[in-house]
Amino acid sequence: MDRTAENAGDPAPGRTGTSVAEVVARRVSCRAYKTDPVPEAHLLQILEAARLAPSACNQQPWRFAVVREPGLRRRIVEEGFLPGIKMTWAIDAPVHVVVGMETSFLTHSLGASVSGVDYPWVDIGIAGEHLVLAATELGLGTCWIGWIKPKAIARIVDWPRSMKPVVVITVGYPSEAELGKLPTSRRKALDEIVRWF
Ligand SMILES: Cc1cc2nc3c(=O)[nH]c(=O)nc-3n(C[C@H](O)[C@H](O)[C@H](O)COP(=O)(O)O)c2cc1C
Repeated sequence: MDRTAENAGDPAPGRTGTSVAEVVARRVSCRAYKTDPVPEAHLLQILEAARLAPSACNQQPWRFAVVREPGLRRRIVEEGFLPGIKMTWAIDAPVHVVVGMETSFLTHSLGASVSGVDYPWVDIGIAGEHLVLAATELGLGTCWIGWIKPKAIARIVDWPRSMKPVVVITVGYPSEAELGKLPTSRRKALDEIVRWF
């Protein structure tokens, strides 16, 4: 059996289907955006996909701040991103979704203290990727940004202390150059990451 499966899920040439495998294969990080606004119906659709994500004990610890206001987006990039990686392109993304965690769930911290697994982080990752895949299906580009200063971003979106920003996901229509971009980032072969029993 060929377990490298490097092209698993690739849509046939010229096709842009919407099966989960096809959407997963089509998603790439988008780092150049058109300034066209994203219709609110699309934003509601991708937030709904995030809302439906599974979570440990169904705690749904995710919270979202949808930032469209240009001045706030600029502040997120200039004050809320850590230095060292050039990410000024994010200013042009018409939407920044701050994905954060409500930290006050006792069940979550209790669970983590027993099992050693920090469930809310897992939950946030699932919800974020639901949002990203739903956006991909709609032809939107996205990029996860984890190189952030959570406290600065919490100030910008006026979140209380119990809510911690975890990532920012940029959302918008990819620029022409990005549209031709193929998923080129190298992935480890299945043999490197899977053990079969
Ligand atoms: C949790 C997380 C944090 C990330 N943080 C950043 C970031 O701060 N800046 C950035 O440009 N890309 C960031 N990325 C995007 C990754 O660099 C990208 O997903 C990876 O290189 C694979 O490329 P691809 O998304 O195009 O397949 C992040 C991705 C994830 C999942």
